[in-house]
Amino acid sequence: MSDLQQLETELLAAVTGAATLKDIEAVRVNALGKKGQVSVLMKGLGKMQPEERKPFGQAVNGLKQRVATALDARKSTLEDEALAEKLASETTDITLPVRPSPMLEGRIHPISQVWEEVTEIFADMGFSIAEGPDIEDDFHNFTALNIPPEHPARQEFDTFYFGKKEDGSRPVLRTHTSPVQIRTMENEKPPLRIIAPGRVYRCDSDQTHTPMFHQVEGLVIDRETHFGHLKWVLEEFFKAFFELDDIKMRFRASHFPFTEPSMEVDIGYAKVGDEIRIGEGNQWLEVLGCGMVHPNVLKSVNLDPDEYQGFAFGVGIDRLAMLKYGMPDLRAFFAADLRWLRHYGFSSLNMPTIAGGSGV
Ligand code: PHE
Repeated sequence: MSDLQQLETELLAAVTGAATLKDIEAVRVNALGKKGQVSVLMKGLGKMQPEERKPFGQAVNGLKQRVATALDARKSTLEDEALAEKLASETTDITLPVRPSPMLEGRIHPISQVWEEVTEIFADMGFSIAEGPDIEDDFHNFTALNIPPEHPARQEFDTFYFGKKEDGSRPVLRTHTSPVQIRTMENEKPPLRIIAPGRVYRCDSDQTHTPMFHQVEGLVIDRETHFGHLKWVLEEFFKAFFELDDIKMRFRASHFPFTEPSMEVDIGYAKVGDEIRIGEGNQWLEVLGCGMVHPNVLKSVNLDPDEYQGFAFGVGIDRLAMLKYGMPDLRAFFAADLRWLRHYGFSSLNMPTIAGGSGV
């Protein structure tokens, strides 16, 4: 076999053996590149005798063309294969079931939902949000609210006390959100229009009471605020909250040391089977305490009762949630039962808005 034939056999074998596009490029450079074996032969032609040059030149040219054709063919085969592989690896089986996103798995607790709903409704009426600490001092939880030491109302609250501090004072877990009234009036000048949602604590537990529960405090202080305003605000609130045009409300005369006069408000409902229907029937659930702020409370924060007056209310968030979403036992709220939460919980993408219906 001549050297040329030998070279051709080797080069064509290399072309066939190239398994990747990278290999085939290496084969091409080795054969036809500037310093490739075939190119070197072509360059040698110049030094040959004319009679030798012609047949050798033709032979090398033929070889060059056959190798180039083989290279092209192999390259396009390899390109096709690479494309096929890429397409295969990128296929998506659109018949597979959709994996539920964690966002949809998680649930908003009904308390958080109702908390947001209540906040949204009052914010829309022009109330701003105030906050206070869960661990309160005696002054804010009791004394400033016209409940002096030894006042019998202190017993009614079933207070959780902390141990005595060095100065003899005893912090408490706040028994209501009313101390936020005091903190707000201490820090801001009237006119005031605030609500304060938060956790409160009382040593009490049965179907409708848990040791920790939630309230929204409301406080309005201005020069000419009267009971009619209070009644209107509550009525508007309940209608928006329950998404009803008419609501059955019952005001009962009551007593709170920090309001005078004081009222308790019940919401009328009917129980049909397991379902709770608001605005019908003749059953009542107490959801709220309210009244005109007591002059002594105003004095305790250095406001002149002859100049300023106002109203306050405290709504039980948990009770509202029970009524609106028909959950009969309050204790289940805090039992951390996932099945309960999946059933009664809300989607995290479901923001309550007035326009969309507060609790869709
Ligand atoms: N703080 C009272 C309670 O927890 C509710 C209330 C608030 C009553 C404001 C009157 C005014 O029972």
